[in-house]
Amino acid sequence: MDYKKYIAERLPVEGMTAEEVASLIACPPDPSMGDYALPCFKLAKVLRKSPAAIAEALCAAFPVGGVVSKAEAVNGYLNFTVDRAAMVRDILSEALSKGDRYGASDAGMGRVVCIDYSSVNIAKRFHIGHLSTTVLGAAIYRILNFLGYKSVGINHLGDYGTQFGKLISAYKRWGNREEIEKQGVSALNDIYVRWHKEAEAHPELEDEARAYFKKIEEKDPECMALFDWFKELTMKDVQKIYDLLDVRFDSYAGESFYSDKMGPVVEELREKGLLRESQGAQIVDLEAYGMPPCIILKKDGTSLYATRDMAAAIYRKNTYDFYKCLYVVAYQQNLHFRQVFKVLELMGKPWAKDLVHVAYGMVSLEEGAMSTRKGNVVFLEDVIDKCIEKAYAIVSEKNPDLENKEEVAKKVGVGAVIFGALYNSKIKDIVFSYDKVLNFEGETSVYVQYTCARARSVLQKAGGAAADWEMPAAIADEEFELAKAVAAFPDTVLAAAEKYEPCLIARLCVDVAQKFNKFYFDCKILSAETDALKNFRLALTRATLQTLTNALALLGIGVPEKM
Ligand code: ARG
Repeated sequence: MDYKKYIAERLPVEGMTAEEVASLIACPPDPSMGDYALPCFKLAKVLRKSPAAIAEALCAAFPVGGVVSKAEAVNGYLNFTVDRAAMVRDILSEALSKGDRYGASDAGMGRVVCIDYSSVNIAKRFHIGHLSTTVLGAAIYRILNFLGYKSVGINHLGDYGTQFGKLISAYKRWGNREEIEKQGVSALNDIYVRWHKEAEAHPELEDEARAYFKKIEEKDPECMALFDWFKELTMKDVQKIYDLLDVRFDSYAGESFYSDKMGPVVEELREKGLLRESQGAQIVDLEAYGMPPCIILKKDGTSLYATRDMAAAIYRKNTYDFYKCLYVVAYQQNLHFRQVFKVLELMGKPWAKDLVHVAYGMVSLEEGAMSTRKGNVVFLEDVIDKCIEKAYAIVSEKNPDLENKEEVAKKVGVGAVIFGALYNSKIKDIVFSYDKVLNFEGETSVYVQYTCARARSVLQKAGGAAADWEMPAAIADEEFELAKAVAAFPDTVLAAAEKYEPCLIARLCVDVAQKFNKFYFDCKILSAETDALKNFRLALTRATLQTLTNALALLGIGVPEKM
């Protein structure tokens, strides 16, 4: 039951739809002000009356009864108190009957949303800079599917560019196939680093690398075989991380996939009179839009990152006919996407408005948290391993007799990495701290997982929640607050999808968990005064567990049975 809507439909405000009124209704943090409140200040402008007078008038006309037990005008606010029992009954029936579909909907109507995320670079190890895009993208992917959209996950691999010519040159000079096969990407990285050192003294290496890159472009069999092998090695490395994080893609069409698809784009730009020569390069002038020119072809005729992104956007539109195409990419690429989107718009693509750069901030590691193997690059695998290791130690200490400690530690450790990256608004820079993300008492996934284990243990002790339960005569504050937090889940999922902010779901998890723990400590569940009360409280416990499980699943976090 949507209470805001219920109330709004009974509040005729001139010149406003019930939906608009509903969007103004809020839940006051202080329950003494009612359960819902309509601030009348915004209405004052429309109705040309004082907020207080509006509140009074609306209050007098409101039909109290049914689910709303009281309406009161106070200082320009119209406060509503609901019939708690009716409301909680609705919430529990909804959550329990929908089960693992609680919070889901078909609002997306099967519309396709392409999500470009993770998009790692070939021959580079997965470092912490790609954590946010990976877990944010994967969360958005699941959230949109949960809401009835059809997500298409695209890993736009960075597999194109002169660096691959350098890598071949390096490999041909110093590469050892078995060594590299054994050590994987880090060995590729080593010869790449060596190449740069040697090239300082031997600039002719640059020419060699350029020649190899040209061969790749011409699809020379030997060079292609090497390149494919580099790719395979990288993907093997990266796949380990995707498996740990439970992240999947529907397409791995990366930059090189577009090498033969850029010609037509350049042609179209030329035909539409958008190309201009500047210092030998082909550009689209964007001065009128306050941006530097978008370079399409370099002086030597080679394409750029932006050219490939344009070909990719057109390809995606043709292939998937997307409703929206999201790019989960760091905010450092703001200008790049603004340029690409603008050029597509100038090309007359009406869908350019459906391209969205979902920008996020930087992740760094707390000072001294880890000595890195090489320079200042922090490898994600090391971070995850360390989190699992720490989780193992904590879990063993808390519960030495726990079975499957390894499995629990994995869920806790991986969850901590994901939750740590998702807990704040995505645009904020994050400083990752092991102690913070693994704090049992903090705003963390461990805290939420532990709460789930607690709820599950209560249910197990009771031999499951009875299927039939009744509302008690009076609802305690703790019960009511918990039920309201549970009820907020479906709207929170919608808001997370609309704003591309999985953090809203992460925050809801913590809120529900905190309220459950308050309820758990203040209200007796298993030793409630009557069986009826016990059954009601068990139903509330089950609804809580369901909500948290669904919410964590959207973020990609598993729930251990026991902790
Ligand atoms: N590989 C790029 C990087 O690591 C990200 C690619 C993002 N996607 C795109 N279509 N440009 O920075």
